[in-house]
Amino acid sequence: MNNIQFWDQELEEIKKKSGFRFLRTRDLAQSGKFTHAMLDGREVILFGGNDYLGLSHHPQVMQAAIDSIREFGVGSGAAQLIHGHTSDHALLEKRLAEFKDAEAVLIFPSGYQSNLAAVSTLVGKGDLVVMDKLNHASLIDACRLSGAEFRVFPHKNYERLEEILAASLTAEKKLIVTDSVFSMDGDLADLETLVHLKEKYGAMLMVDEAHAIGVFGKKGSGLVEEKGLWNQVDIQAGTLSKAIGVQGGFIAGSRKLIDYLVNFSRPFIFSTAIAPHLCRAAKMAVDLIESEKKLREKLLWKTYAVKEELVKDLGFNVGPTQSPIIPIMIGEVERALRISKALLDEGIFIPAIRPPAVALGESRLRLVISAAHDDDDVRKLLLALQKVKKYENRD
Ligand SMILES: Cc1ncc(COP(=O)(O)O)c(C=O)c1O
Repeated sequence: MNNIQFWDQELEEIKKKSGFRFLRTRDLAQSGKFTHAMLDGREVILFGGNDYLGLSHHPQVMQAAIDSIREFGVGSGAAQLIHGHTSDHALLEKRLAEFKDAEAVLIFPSGYQSNLAAVSTLVGKGDLVVMDKLNHASLIDACRLSGAEFRVFPHKNYERLEEILAASLTAEKKLIVTDSVFSMDGDLADLETLVHLKEKYGAMLMVDEAHAIGVFGKKGSGLVEEKGLWNQVDIQAGTLSKAIGVQGGFIAGSRKLIDYLVNFSRPFIFSTAIAPHLCRAAKMAVDLIESEKKLREKLLWKTYAVKEELVKDLGFNVGPTQSPIIPIMIGEVERALRISKALLDEGIFIPAIRPPAVALGESRLRLVISAAHDDDDVRKLLLALQKVKKYENRD
């Protein structure tokens, strides 16, 4: 079989399992609202992103990017260790370190890359890395890349985690990795228990705060802040691409940790630096997250109101979510795709999430509320869900 035949066969196979993926081109909405878009020629309201606070279109954030472009252009031109590390990079790192109550920060072009960089540099052959089953794919890939012994414990089953740690007698270094907010279920890790275990077994603890930044904590810096655990979490990972509204990723921790990554992390060393204007925009967004508490409160009460309606009035199962990620549990892949398509016909975009992103039989719609959705958006969302549910129940 040649390559083309092999690809055809694999693509046919994935189509049979309703798993075929394709790109949709998003265009500016006629209404001018950035929470809306033109998809396939019609305007729809977007409920599938992670721009929790609407900062991607905040005038001050956009202006910061424009000001930086005027000075530095649109690309960094080199890896950070060559001459890609501009004053915009340095200022963002300093601001993020302050925000995350860490000594130092290192930034990357994406959160995926920062996770790969941290895990694959901190553990290797002869070490143990152990993680929650529902961690983000970037962390799974990072563990595979590391070459360390890679173990997975069932979601939030910390007794099992303890058994794995206790049984590991030969590992030189041990690393526990968890999301703080799980990206497909919206529930939270029990960070206090993880800190207790990491101390008991002399492990390092890495917490991915991708979906907690801008949502939890007095300053809005995440769940680690909310729980007051800055000094106990060794490695905090984050992305600039969700509530911060821009693009990029970062690792926060001790000065030594960051020096170590700068010197030994191949995904950092051998990649062009994130563009300076993204750094300046992200710094402005972090300032706004901290100062605009009302925006964060708006996100939380809007999420709460939608969840209440979904569960109490419409009878949907949204699982154990405690965050703005609302999984509407469906089950079969085909049904999730059908409901997502029916909602699209009603002008509402909520992506169907299916294997391998979630387990077989656990397909769902991943609904995300943003502070930028207005009352009319939310009203249309609930009406469409009500209509689709009524239609589905006829079967
Ligand atoms: C928990 C988690 N970590 C990391 C990432 C990767 O971040 P980025 O999209 O910035 O690459 C994501 C998002 O996709 C995520 O959900």
